[in-house]
Amino acid sequence: MKKQLIAGNWKMNGSLASNEALLKELLAGLNSPVCQIAVCVPAVYLMQCQKQLAGSAIYVGAQDVSAHESGAFTGENSVAMLKDIGVRYAIVGHSERRQYHGETDAVVAVKVQHALAAGITPIVCVGETLQEREAGKTEEVVKRQLAAVIHLNGHCISEIVVAYEPVWAIGTSKTASPEQAQAVHALLRAQLQAATSHADRIQIVYGGSMNAANAAQLLAQADIDGGLVGGASLKAPDFLTIIAAAQ
Ligand code: PGA
Repeated sequence: MKKQLIAGNWKMNGSLASNEALLKELLAGLNSPVCQIAVCVPAVYLMQCQKQLAGSAIYVGAQDVSAHESGAFTGENSVAMLKDIGVRYAIVGHSERRQYHGETDAVVAVKVQHALAAGITPIVCVGETLQEREAGKTEEVVKRQLAAVIHLNGHCISEIVVAYEPVWAIGTSKTASPEQAQAVHALLRAQLQAATSHADRIQIVYGGSMNAANAAQLLAQADIDGGLVGGASLKAPDFLTIIAAAQ
């Protein structure tokens, strides 16, 4: 059976000392988890976390990958480099990358292609802004974002994780209701089903102010297969509660 995935997105937070303390507390508090677990950490701390988590139930993920293989792309990290140090997951197309770094649907699709080719599981983020939701465009937007990824990646699409992250819910304490989230997840599932016969094994996770108090209800929805957790993943007790809520 498909397991749920709980992935932390640390964003641009942490230090050698605070990372070590957070991971130590997580490892000590893990109680034979039934779900898959990952922490997506800043690139400079990937090796630190990889070392500390070696042999544990927690995988390490990156927060982005380059759309290029190698060469003159100052500041970027290629999928080969990430693979080289044992990275298992990479967030791709997070709304903060789309918003502040101009990532288009086409660029996101290429990044997904590179990650898949390297054997790194991309956690592909889609989601509408508040303005788009209020204009009744949620379905159109998330389908367009996912369609670009499906179009370029064809039959490999069953190897991705999709994260539905309504932009208005990220870091705002305004979580989508379980019903709102489930409705979009069902749309995305149907879109994946039209593209692959293996759609049922694709994890579609929810992100956007998931926390210790609301995780269980969200994770109980039929098409919600886990969470991409920002703020609450920086507090070990909260992240552990979310992990425990995942079936
Ligand atoms: P949040 O962030 O949980 O802090 O809302 C989620 C994300 O951006 O992945």
